[in-house]
Amino acid sequence: MRGPAALILSGGKGTRLRPLTLGTPKPLLPLVNAPSLGFPLALLRKHGCRDAVLCVSDELAPYRPFVSAQKKLGTSVLCSRETRELGTAGAMKNAERLAQGETLFAFNGDILTDLDLTAMLRFHRERRARITIALVPVPDPKHYGLVRTGPRGRVRAFIEKPPSGRSASAKGVLINGGIYLMDRAVLDRVPAGRNSSVERELFPGCVRDGLPVFGYAVPRGTYWLDIGTPEKYLQANLDVLSGRLKKIVPAGSLRRISPSASIHPLARVGPDAVVGPFCRVGAGAEVRRSVLLRRVTAGKDSVVEGAMIGPGSVLGDAVRVRPFTVLGPRSRVTAFSRV
Ligand code: GDD
Ligand code: MG
Repeated sequence: MRGPAALILSGGKGTRLRPLTLGTPKPLLPLVNAPSLGFPLALLRKHGCRDAVLCVSDELAPYRPFVSAQKKLGTSVLCSRETRELGTAGAMKNAERLAQGETLFAFNGDILTDLDLTAMLRFHRERRARITIALVPVPDPKHYGLVRTGPRGRVRAFIEKPPSGRSASAKGVLINGGIYLMDRAVLDRVPAGRNSSVERELFPGCVRDGLPVFGYAVPRGTYWLDIGTPEKYLQANLDVLSGRLKKIVPAGSLRRISPSASIHPLARVGPDAVVGPFCRVGAGAEVRRSVLLRRVTAGKDSVVEGAMIGPGSVLGDAVRVRPFTVLGPRSRVTAFSRV
């Protein structure tokens, strides 16, 4: 049996990931040399969901190879394009007609997780919920949507990025993990064709009106990360490399070093480095805890540590790239540049 269809929010501007998103839509940025959007789709497939609608706000052309690759893996992907800014709820409303079924999964497309979706669906059905929100503990809750729950997980309040950090400081507060189950009818509450927000309008409104909205606290040990900033995106690459996502990406299914990359025999590329297609790493160069996106050249004796290097960039001979450096596409760095 096919599980519920999923709406995947894959739009917005990806501003916090700049400069990496200059030239590549955020959902297609690679994670260990595979588009990051493939990870939520692999998770959905594992739990029987093989129909996904991508809610995108960019041109569709860059998504085509991804859509056909997913088809080969057994997931049918449709794209719903927004011609103007619709926000998270508006984007779902716009995509709704392309998704079948009365219950839908909805995902923020920038979440990397191995959440047990089958258990979440069971919870949703047992509670007879109209909306179920996956809830996650994080160290810095104020940057997220805060969710307060009562008995059996009934949501009492949903507060998106509270302006004062006060309500976020309470111990044990859980945040919106950006993964939802919802009855299709919930989307009847979203006005068609105009900008509206799941987090600021739809969910708080449903809670206020007494709809059965529940929070599903993710089981201990669940991996969860929003990969929306360069630091988190690097972290995501390292976590995938270290096998933390092995429940959804089997060992050996990813290429840490792209087969088209050329690495000098005297270069040292650590087991915690990702080297993209057509990269060149010169003699004596060292790459550790870093991601080289496609067509990067790391010159002879260069050292790259803890950095994200954008596509087409050239690091000259003996360049040292400091930790936390993020270089945009086609950057040029010589031993005399400050980065
Ligand atoms: N199609 C479409 N259209 N997608 C959008 C739009 C839009 O207008 N705006 C945002 N998105 C997508 C983004 O691509 C992302 O996948 C998702 O919606 C959430 O947007 P972010 O900009 O990444 O939001 P956030 O990370 O600050 O906060 C959200 O995620 C947190 C969990 O990481 C909120 O949902 C928070 O409540 C939540 O805690
Ligand atoms: Mg995000």
